[in-house]
Formats: sequence, C-alpha cells, structure tokens
Amino acid sequence: MIERRGAAAYEAVPYTSLPYPRTHPDHLCSMARLAGIAAPAVEGAAVLEIGCGSGGNLLPMAAHLPHARFVGVDLAAAELARAPFVPSNVELRATSGTTVEGRFDYVIAHGVWSWIPEDDRRALLAAIRRVLTPTGVAFVSYNVLPGWHLRGAFRAMLRAHTAGRGAGEAVSAAKELLAYLDRSAPRTGAYRAALDEERARLAAADDGYLFHELLEEHNHPVSVETFVAEAGAAGLSFLCEADPLANPTAGTRRALLPLVGDDPIAVERALDWARGRSFRCSLLVREDAPRGPRPGEGWFVETRLERVGDSFRADDVDVQVSPRVAADLERATAVHPDAAPIGALDDEHVALHEAGLLVLRPRALGLSAEGAPTAVARAFAATTELAWVGNRRHEPIALDPALRAALAAPETARPLLHALAFLG
Ligand SMILES: C[S@@+](CC[C@H](N)C(=O)[O-])C[C@H]1O[C@@H](n2cnc3c(N)ncnc32)[C@H](O)[C@@H]1O
Repeated sequence: MIERRGAAAYEAVPYTSLPYPRTHPDHLCSMARLAGIAAPAVEGAAVLEIGCGSGGNLLPMAAHLPHARFVGVDLAAAELARAPFVPSNVELRATSGTTVEGRFDYVIAHGVWSWIPEDDRRALLAAIRRVLTPTGVAFVSYNVLPGWHLRGAFRAMLRAHTAGRGAGEAVSAAKELLAYLDRSAPRTGAYRAALDEERARLAAADDGYLFHELLEEHNHPVSVETFVAEAGAAGLSFLCEADPLANPTAGTRRALLPLVGDDPIAVERALDWARGRSFRCSLLVREDAPRGPRPGEGWFVETRLERVGDSFRADDVDVQVSPRVAADLERATAVHPDAAPIGALDDEHVALHEAGLLVLRPRALGLSAEGAPTAVARAFAATTELAWVGNRRHEPIALDPALRAALAAPETARPLLHALAFLG
C-alpha cells in the first residue's frame, strides 16, 4: 500500500507547484522595509525555498533574477526530478529543510510547517533562524484556528472513511463521501454552510490538494499565538502577514483597543477569531534584527489605476489622491505592467498599498516589448509536467495551448507576451 506520510506520500500523489507572488523576494523586501527592517537588495540576494516541490515557484523567480542565488530543498526526490529546467543560479537538494545549512536573505516555506511532525516543526523554525542573515526575511505559511476547527471536522470524517486505503483509492473514496454528504446533509444551517465552503474549496483545487490537506497523516493547525511563541522560541519574531490586506490597519487597531488592548499578537488573534481564518502566510525576521524608520527613497510603484477625470479608477473603485501621488500614478500607469520609480514615499502611497490599489516594489522589473521570455518559461511551456508558469511579476499564468505556442515562438506573439509580462 502507498504510504500516506512523508516523502513517499508526495511520490505517490504529486502536489501542483505554481508561482506564489507573495513569496517573491521583491514582495518580502517591500513588506519588511515598510516595517522598518533594512531587508537586503533583491537583485543579488541568496534565496532558500524549503519544500520547493517540482520548482513551480522557485524556478520562475530564479529565471527573472539571474544575479541572485537560489537553493531549493525538498524531502521528495521524485518531486525535484519533475523540474523541467534548472537555471545555473539554482541548486536543488533532496534533503530536509530541518538540516539545511548556509546563509540566506530570503527563506520561503510555503505549505510545509503545518504538514510535518512536531519535532520537525520545531527544527524547521530553528533552521530558518540559523540560516537567515541579520535583516533577512522568512515567509512561512501554516493552518490556523479557529477556521480549522470547522475544516478539521471534514478532515476527520474523510480520514476515518479512507483509513487503510492507498493514495489513489483514498482520493476516490473521499470524493464519494463528499458527494454523499452533499446529498444528505440538511439544506440550511451552519453545517450546510461549512460543508458547502469545503466543497467549493475542493472544487477549485486538484487531487493533490485534497490528498495532502485532508487525507495525509500530518496537518496540525495552531492558533496564531502558538505559532508566534514557537517562532519566538527559535529566535524569530512575527513581522506581519504577507498579504497587505490581511494586516490590521491603524483604524482596526484603534477599534480593537478597548476589546483586546494594543498587544500586536492579541490583535492578530482577534482578527483570526473575527474572520474565522484557517490559513496564514506570515513573515518572520530575526529577533535581533535592527528596526528603524521605513526608507523614503528607492521605491517603485506598479498600478492598474487609470485617471478618469479628477480621480483614479481600477475596476469600480474610485481613488482621490494628492497632485504629487497623481503624478506617480500616471507614470506607473504609462509603464504598466512594469513599475515606475517614485520621488519619495509618503503615507498616501502606503495607504494605497495596504488597500491593494498599488504595489510598492523595491525595483523595476525590466519589462520591454523587445525582450525575450526566459529559458525557464520556454522549458515550462515545452513540458506537460507543469500547468502554470510565472511571469516577471511572478503571477501564475496558466499554460494553455495559446501561451505554450507563444512561448515556443516568441517572435510571432510579442504583444501577447508583453501584455502578460513575459518579455524582458
Ligand atoms: C504541500 S507541498 C507544498 C509544495 C510547495 N511549497 C507549494 O506550496 O506548492 C509540501 C512539500 O514539502 C516537502 N517537505 C515535507 N517535509 C519536508 C522537509 N522536512 N524538508 C523539506 N521538504 C519537505 C514535501 O515533500 C512537499 O514537496
């Protein structure tokens, strides 16, 4: 029977590997600098991804940052072997992230921490602290409570129903059980709402997600304060969430003051309770990382906001800004999908970034209509192993037949590749 734990589980059921923009060093650098940590320059950084799988996240990043150095580690050699192309600035190691050595400015552990045994979770945080440079930044994602109290009920049922079965058979049996629950559960009420949400999540995912999230042995959600305490025991401090929209605004903190006080982790916990959050992507820094003011210079802005009369608009959001910020937005709109440099950062830029209306970057991306797609993008397009590829903004773009053809013959499809941010 195929095992349901450790590397063997990933060899039995591969996990879809794709680019996650929030793990990109550009984003980690911006978020850390906004919080007053002098995060290292990205262009020449050393980057480690723990649990990199078949490289869907790591390899496109490395292709677009040829002067940075990347190491990807994964316990499952079979996952690493699915990487279609490994650029010269990348080293892939079939080993545990808990024993990794070296010095890294940016460390990514996405989809790993909650899904390994307790000793390994402790060792993973210790390893991150050991390898992180003094102002380096780590991205760690994990499952959290209280959202997982609800999800855990379905995981328990599915695991009980599929116990003793091999991986492939377990996935089919889990789907049968979910269909039965859908037919038989009450049409209304809290149980129905939770079931529908779980089914919707699984409908948008693939068998790899279902298997590794709901059927495998290890999945240990914790409260945010437990995670922060475990990070603290390893010498790491919580900085913020990777998603700007997931962080408390000044207004939220003020509103929560009478209820939970001003302790930042008490505020985070209250937000998890309020939102019923089940998943976090947290940024960690060394406990001894020096903190200062956020830098005013050296920022680039990327935005899709377009001027309409006196205001700026994206989708159906209207934004009023000062004349100075308006000039920055106009320059950025003109070079979109690249980013434009701005004179000096102020609170207005930061508020727009926190609202998801612009992206603050530490550099321009170097997009040009004359450029060429990277060797990684072309190799991904030429294989059926991977269904997604990252562009220069590290967005996941589905490798449909039209994009595969465009990447195979870039000269004939320049407008499409430029619009999708592949050329540079
Ligand atoms: C759920 S997948 C996530 C893959 C990828 N990071 C992502 O988010 O798409 C977890 C990956 O972590 C790997 N893994 C598990 N324990 C590990 C460890 N101790 N060290 C390195 N990799 C590990 C697994 O083999 C698997 O490839």
